Amino acid sequence: MSQLLSEKRIVLGLTGGIACYKSAELCRRLQDQGASIQVVMTDAACAFITPTTMQALSGKHVYSETLDPTMANSMAHINLSREADAILIAPCSADFIAKLAHGLADDLLSTLCLARGACPLIIAPAMNREMWANPATQRNIQRLIDDGISVWGPAAGEQACGEIGSGRMLEVPDLVEEMISFFSPKLLQGIKILMTAGPTEEAIDPVRVITNRSSGKTGYAIATAARRAGAKVTLISGPTALPRPYGVDFISVRSAREMYEAVMTVAAAHDIFISVAAVADWYIKNSTTSKIKKTADGGFPALEFAPNPDIIASVATMENGPWPIGFAAETDNLYEYAEAKRQRKKLPLVVGNLAQDVMDRDSTRFVLFADSGVSEMQPASKPAAAAALVAEIARRYRSR
Ligand code: C5P
Repeated sequence: MSQLLSEKRIVLGLTGGIACYKSAELCRRLQDQGASIQVVMTDAACAFITPTTMQALSGKHVYSETLDPTMANSMAHINLSREADAILIAPCSADFIAKLAHGLADDLLSTLCLARGACPLIIAPAMNREMWANPATQRNIQRLIDDGISVWGPAAGEQACGEIGSGRMLEVPDLVEEMISFFSPKLLQGIKILMTAGPTEEAIDPVRVITNRSSGKTGYAIATAARRAGAKVTLISGPTALPRPYGVDFISVRSAREMYEAVMTVAAAHDIFISVAAVADWYIKNSTTSKIKKTADGGFPALEFAPNPDIIASVATMENGPWPIGFAAETDNLYEYAEAKRQRKKLPLVVGNLAQDVMDRDSTRFVLFADSGVSEMQPASKPAAAAALVAEIARRYRSR
């Protein structure tokens, strides 16, 4: 697995809240991505999880005293932020938010935040929903945003106190994803990208469908990479077994005609359209609303097919439509078929790959077809290939 936070030094600050139990896992998952973690805890945090746990996981002494004699100059509040690429406070309590908003410095963590200089500060709030909704907290949060502090979350859902609402700390994978995005070059900042991904399903009857082997992995990886690059992504997906990519507007569809309707409804509001979905070419004209029964004579239903709308060809002919990028998965003659497809559908860019090498696999190899010619990208895992493709798309989009 490629590590997306290698060489990043992160101060992980813990304040008092039950979500502290997730910070142990957060520390490990940030390390998985290559980050080195320096933990700082408030006294209240130490009531929820021990510094010993965090020290064992981070492999470093955990700081919590303002005047720490283990540091040669006894200035942990200065040294720790000078050595860091970012400070993440997770969980960040309502009390600590109030402190940050007012510039209080009565313990090590708040003092080092005040003394951080240019080091970016990020908070992941975690508290009861009423505490989060309280006008005082909202006022303080707005102040932090105005001061350039990043606020990740909170999420909504069930809370430790039994209430349901907004105030949960973001889940660990979502915080890691936010951290990867935070350090990713913003090659597509503010660009609105519409994508399709996955297979489509064409109904035979209410229980049977015709579909294909697309897993959605390539499209989902591109959606994630585009979001990390700063794009606002809308993903219209056929049925897949994958978790929804974090931070992406997600529209779920089944058939090609549903996908077409969903795309055409929102396409005009986007800058780029990337059509990764393996869209069925035909739907079944004589599908039934009741399950087709087996007959005693061993007969079988005569399915009648009709063509589905070509989604990307329709987008490519829109006046002022998004910049369209097609995909071509072929089993043979990739170069010939992909280029023919590009010309027939009038696309500036088609991304080709060999179906048997990529469908439902974890790696891929893209070949790009454009007016300027053909170029081959390196074989790579789907996330790595997606990141390289997004950089290539950004470059070509800007010089189109
Ligand atoms: O299915 P085909 O190989 O022609 O797909 C090539 C490109 O066209 C892909 O980008 C695919 O998402 C798109 N396509 C589409 N609507 C269809 C069929 C394919 O947008 N009905």
